[in-house]
Amino acid sequence: MLYSEKVLDHFSNPRNVGEIEDADGVGEIGNAKCGDIMKMYLKIDNNIITDAKFKTFGCGAAVATSSMATELIKGKSIDDALKLTNQAVVEALDGLPAVKIHCSVLAEQAVRSALSDYYTRQGIDPLPIVGEIKEPEE
Ligand code: FES
Repeated sequence: MLYSEKVLDHFSNPRNVGEIEDADGVGEIGNAKCGDIMKMYLKIDNNIITDAKFKTFGCGAAVATSSMATELIKGKSIDDALKLTNQAVVEALDGLPAVKIHCSVLAEQAVRSALSDYYTRQGIDPLPIVGEIKEPEE
């Protein structure tokens, strides 16, 4: 089997799909090569991510990794969410085929993009905190 049970589960039954209307941070990231797009909505209270939702127009691995990413950051501090790497998302899903690793980068960067928007809305320059948002290049 190419995909783990967890990947298949998060693909066919993705968690936290949708939008947050009064989100505190909204991020969007795309992969120019495959054309997939991910949108991430965060609700943040006192530095804690109280809610996270996403919309992904993309491949199955992009859906599964965005679903897992929202699960991993919900209830966590901004600092912890900033430490979320695509490898951690992949591990939580019990792995991804090598050709699909770039899809997990989209999830990592979508979270960072939403946090960057959060800081911008607070009048804080996000660059020194969040760093540059990089579109996956594969
Ligand atoms: Fe585009 Fe997976 S192929 S994100």
